[in-house]
Amino acid sequence: MLILGCPGSGKGTLSARVEKHFGIPIINAGDVLRWHIAHETDIGRQARDVIHNGQLMPDSIMMQLIGEKAISMGDHDWLLDGFPRTAGQADMLLQALHEQHTPLTLVVNLRVPESIILQRILERWTHIPSGRVYNLSYNPPQRPGLDDVTGEPLEKRDDDNPDTFKLRIDSFHAKTEPMIERLRSERCVYDPSRPLLVDLAGETSNAIWPKLRAAIEERCPHLVK
Ligand code: AP5
Ligand code: MG
Repeated sequence: MLILGCPGSGKGTLSARVEKHFGIPIINAGDVLRWHIAHETDIGRQARDVIHNGQLMPDSIMMQLIGEKAISMGDHDWLLDGFPRTAGQADMLLQALHEQHTPLTLVVNLRVPESIILQRILERWTHIPSGRVYNLSYNPPQRPGLDDVTGEPLEKRDDDNPDTFKLRIDSFHAKTEPMIERLRSERCVYDPSRPLLVDLAGETSNAIWPKLRAAIEERCPHLVK
């Protein structure tokens, strides 16, 4: 399963709920890149500038880092957050999954008004090692400035500022939206009467979560508890 949506649309927040409720492992492309930055790998050195400038990493690197990790999980369930993000990444992923006879079950596209997203991003605090996100008004940590699980300090992401955010939105419109439109024409292989992609709209994750849960339960009956 894929979760798509513009920067700050709530992909990470809703993926965490999916992981908790359904026990599906999440692969988060941004978190993988931030791990490389924290560990000062060659990929991390490249990613630091790319992320700071609101640009995208090359498709081939992202396919190696994220796509191949998902493909290696065979027919186990998984959810990708932040990959694919370009038509090139989508082509590589769909082709590899097709060859392995494990096509996608569901693609969710979060539609949240852009007007409310910048404020969310400015209020976001992140526990970088785990990728857990908080928001000062919507989802504050139990103790100010500290991660609920580890007690470690929360940080601002380097790309959570108005200038970089504008560049991230621009690259979403230029590179990711055309990919989303292409995926919109795909059918679900397991039930060709349904489209592969489902749009979920709403201003709050609390409004979107019941719809997301229902979509997963409908497409993946084996996950219903
Ligand atoms: P990534 O880390 O994936 O960033 P993103 O796509 O910009 O998305 P975000 O993580 O900022 O937002 P989100 O949708 O997860 O929202 P969240 O749940 O945190 O990627 C970072 C960078 O890495 C990219 O810009 C690129 O450079 C590079 N990269 C990554 N993948 C790549 C790829 N495949 N190819 C090339 N380059 C790649 O929510 C946001 C905030 O809102 C939080 O504070 C949250 O608490 C709050 N919030 C959530 N829901 C609600 C709500 N309902 N009401 C109020 N507040 C809410
Ligand atoms: Mg995220």
